[in-house]
Amino acid sequence: MKVLIVYGTRYGTATEISEEIARVMESEEIEVDVKDARSLKHFDISPYQLVVVGSGIKMGKWTKKSLNFLKENKEALASRDVAIFVTCGAANEEKNRAEGQEKYLDQVAATNLVNEPVTTGLFGSKYDPDAKHGLMYNFTMKFIKKDLEKHGIDTSKPIDYRNWDEIRAWARGLAESLKNE
Ligand SMILES: Cc1cc2nc3c(=O)[nH]c(=O)nc-3n(C[C@H](O)[C@H](O)[C@H](O)COP(=O)(O)O)c2cc1C
Repeated sequence: MKVLIVYGTRYGTATEISEEIARVMESEEIEVDVKDARSLKHFDISPYQLVVVGSGIKMGKWTKKSLNFLKENKEALASRDVAIFVTCGAANEEKNRAEGQEKYLDQVAATNLVNEPVTTGLFGSKYDPDAKHGLMYNFTMKFIKKDLEKHGIDTSKPIDYRNWDEIRAWARGLAESLKNE
C-alpha cells in the first residue's frame, strides 16, 4: 500500500503541508512518496493506491505543473483513489471559504478528474513579514498587511493560518480510508 503526494508551490506553503500529511501517514505505517510537481515528467503512478495532489493558489490558479500532473495522468488516476487540497488566502476567512472550495477544488476536480475525489482539503496560508519572493509577492503582501492592520492584527510577526490539527485529521482520515479498503 503506497501513497503518492504531488504538490505545486510558489512560496513553499504547500510543501510544508505535504510533508506533514506524509508524516501522519508514515506514523500509520503507510509508505509515502512526496514529490514537487516540477520534478515529475512521465512519472509512473501505477505503484500507488492513493494519489494526493495539492497546490498553492496564485491569482485564482493552481501551479501549471500540478495541474498538468492531473491532466497528464487523468486516465491512470481514474482507477485510483485521488484526494486534492489547496492552500490559499480564501481559506483564512470563513466568509471566503465557500468560494475557495468551489473555485479551487470543486471546479478543478470536475474539469480534471474522471471520478470524484475521495476528499478535498481547503487549507489556509501564512503571512510572513520577512519573506521575500519578488515583486508580485511583495505587492500582494503589502495589501494583505494593510487589511490585517485594519482589523487590529499585529503584522510584525508571522501568522500561520494553516490549521495543523485539521490538516493532520485530514491525513488520518485518508490513512483510515486506505486501511478499510
Ligand atoms: C501574488 C499572490 C497571489 C495570490 N492569489 C490568491 C488568490 O487568487 N486566491 C487566494 O485564495 N489566495 C491567493 N494568494 C494566497 C496564496 O494562495 C497562499 O499564500 C498560499 O499559501 C500559497 O501557497 P504556496 O506557497 O504553496 O504557493 C495569493 C498570494 C500571492 C502572494
